[in-house]
Amino acid sequence: MGSESESVVQATLQKAVGLLQVAFVWFCGLSVPQQISIIIAAPFVYSMTWQFLFSLRKDRVPLVPYFIPWVGSAVAYGTRPYEFFGECQKKYGDIFSFMLLGRVMTVYLGPKGHEFVLNAKLADVSAEAAYTHLTTPVFGKGVIYDCSNSRLMEQKKFTKGALSTEAFRKYVPKIADEVYKYFRNSKNFSMNQQKGGIINVMETQPEMTIFTASRSLLGEEMRAMLDTDFAYLYSDLDKGFKPINFVFSNLPLDHYRKRDHAQRTISSTYMKLIQKRRDANDIQDRDLIDSLLKNSTYKDGTKMTDQEIANLLIGVLMGGQHTSAATSAWLLLHLAERPEIQQELYEEQMRVLDNGKKELTYDLLQEMPLLNQTIKETLRMHHPLHSLFRKVTRDLPIPNTPYVVPKNHFVLVSPGYCHLQDEFFPKANTFNPHRWDNDAKSSYATGEEVDYGFGAISKGVSSPYLPFGGGRHRCIGEHFAYCQLGTILSIFVRTVKWKFSPKMNGVPGSDFQSMVTLPLTPAEVQWEKREPEQKV
Ligand code: HEM
Ligand SMILES: *[C@@H]1O[C@H](CO)[C@@H](O)[C@H](O)[C@H]1NC(C)=O
Ligand SMILES: *[C@@H]1O[C@H](CO)[C@@H](O)[C@H](O)[C@H]1NC(C)=O
Ligand SMILES: *[C@@H]1O[C@H](CO)[C@@H](O)[C@H](O)[C@H]1NC(C)=O
Repeated sequence: MGSESESVVQATLQKAVGLLQVAFVWFCGLSVPQQISIIIAAPFVYSMTWQFLFSLRKDRVPLVPYFIPWVGSAVAYGTRPYEFFGECQKKYGDIFSFMLLGRVMTVYLGPKGHEFVLNAKLADVSAEAAYTHLTTPVFGKGVIYDCSNSRLMEQKKFTKGALSTEAFRKYVPKIADEVYKYFRNSKNFSMNQQKGGIINVMETQPEMTIFTASRSLLGEEMRAMLDTDFAYLYSDLDKGFKPINFVFSNLPLDHYRKRDHAQRTISSTYMKLIQKRRDANDIQDRDLIDSLLKNSTYKDGTKMTDQEIANLLIGVLMGGQHTSAATSAWLLLHLAERPEIQQELYEEQMRVLDNGKKELTYDLLQEMPLLNQTIKETLRMHHPLHSLFRKVTRDLPIPNTPYVVPKNHFVLVSPGYCHLQDEFFPKANTFNPHRWDNDAKSSYATGEEVDYGFGAISKGVSSPYLPFGGGRHRCIGEHFAYCQLGTILSIFVRTVKWKFSPKMNGVPGSDFQSMVTLPLTPAEVQWEKREPEQKV
C-alpha cells in the first residue's frame, strides 16, 4: 500500500473515531430512560436500514421483510417450511432470500434450483461450512464435514465398498433376522404371547432401524452391545444431533457434555474392535468395518487413522438412522390408512416368495415393484430433509437473472417442496404408490453421468424427484435404505395387518423441527397377526 493511501485511511479512521466520541458524549448526556430506549431501538433501526439498503440493490434477490433483528423469519421457516416457501413463492417467485438467525438464506425453488445448488461448483459453495457445527461434535474429527471435500469424496468411496450387491445379499437375511427378533422380544409386539397390540411407530421404527443397521453394517459384536447399557450412549449422542447445534455447537450444558462423552466412548469402542480384528488378522467381508480396514488409504498415500475410521462409522450410521427410521414410520402410517395396499403388497409377497415357501433374499426383493413403489411414494411425500444448505464461498451469480448471491450468504434447496407440487406430481397430497407403475426403480441416471470420486451418478440434477439429493454430496445410502426398508416392510406385510389405533385421526401432520421431518404425535398403529399365522 502506498503512503498516500495509508494517510487517507488514517484520516478516515480519525474522523470515525471523532464522530464516535461526539456520539458517546451526546449519549452520556441523555437521561437513563432515553439511553435504554436507544439501546433497545438501535438493533431495530439497524435492521430496518439494512433491509432497506438491501432492497435498493438490483443485484440482490428479493428479501422477505422481517421485524425482529437477527431472528428474521426463523419461526415461520422453522415450524412450517413448506407453507413458508409456498407463501414466498407466490409473492416473489422461485428465488428469494430470508433472514434466519443472523444468516441470509437464498432459496431457489423448483428443478432449476436443484441444479443451481446441488450442481454448484466446488469453488462457489461449501457444504462443510454449512454443516460442520452440527455434525463434527457428533461424528468426531477428520471425517465428513471436518475435512476437505476431496477427502469426503474418498470416504464415500471407501464406504461404498460395503454397499455392493454382494454385501446386500449378506445383509438381507441378517436384517430379516433382526426384524423377527424384534417381533418376538419387544414389549408391544411380544408376538409369541400376543395376537395383537398397539405400537408407537416413533418408538419401534428407530429401534428396528438401529438394530438392523448395526447388525449388517457394524457386525454381530456391535449389535450385541445394543442389548446392554451401551445403548444409552447412542441415545445421548442422538440427543446432541439437533438443529439448534447449527447456532450453538457447544455450550456448557449437560446434554452437550453427554454428547461429547458418548462420542468418545462409542468411537473408542469401535476402535477396540478394529484393533482386535487387526491383531487377530481377522479381516473378511462381513461388514463396513472389514471394508474400511481393507480400504481406507487416500490416493495421496495418507491412511485414515483408527479414530477417523471410527468417526466415519458413526457418521455413516447416523446418516442412515434418522432418515430410514422416519421413512419406515411414515410407511406404516400411510399403510394403516390403506388396507387395500397392504393386501396388494401381501399378494406380491406371496407371488414372489411362492406362497411363503421361499426365504426372502436380496434378489427376490428386486422382483417386488410395488414394494419399491410404496417406499418411493413415501419418500416423495415425506422427504426426511426439508432443506439442504451450502455456504457461498465466492460471489455467485444466479444464471439468467440479475442476481448475485454474495460470499458468506447461504443457498438453500428443497427437493421435498418440489415433491409436493401438483404441477410435478398430480394430486401431490394423495398417497398413491401406483403413480410409479412402470417406474419402480428408486432412481436412475438419465443421460450423462459423472464421477466425483465415489462412483458414477447422474450429471443432471434437475429432476423434480430427488429424495437422495444430487451432485457431489449425493447420498450413497440409497440402495442400503431400499434394502433395509424393503426387508422390514416385507416382513410386516406378511406377518401382520395394521390400522390406526383408536387415538389416531388419520395420517399425522409433520413435525419439521427435528433433524428429519417426523410424524407428529400420537403416531400409533394397532396390529393383529395375519391368518394363517406366520412363524416369527
Ligand atoms: C431413506 C433414506 C435416506 C435418505 C432420504 C437420504 C437422503 C440424503 C440426502 C438428501 C443427501 C444429500 C445431502 C446434501 O446434499 O446436503 C444424503 C447424503 C448422504 N447420505 Fe443419505 N439418505 C438416506 C439414507 C442413508 C443411509 C442409509 C446412509 C448410509 C448407509 C446414508 C449416507 C449418506 C452419506 C454418506 C451422504 C453424503 C453426504 C455428503 O456427501 O455431503 N444415507 N442423504
Ligand atoms: C480399494 O481402493 C482401490 C483404490 O481406490 C480400488 O482400486 C479397489 O478396488 C478397492 N478395493 C475394494 C476391495 O473395494
Ligand atoms: C407400547 O404401547 C403403549 C400404549 O399402549 C405406548 O404408550 C408405548 O409407547 C408403546 N411402546 C412402544 C415401544 O411402541
Ligand atoms: C427397487 O429399488 C432398488 C433400489 O434402487 C433397485 O435395486 C431395484 O431394482 C428396484 N426394484 C424394482 C422391481 O424395480
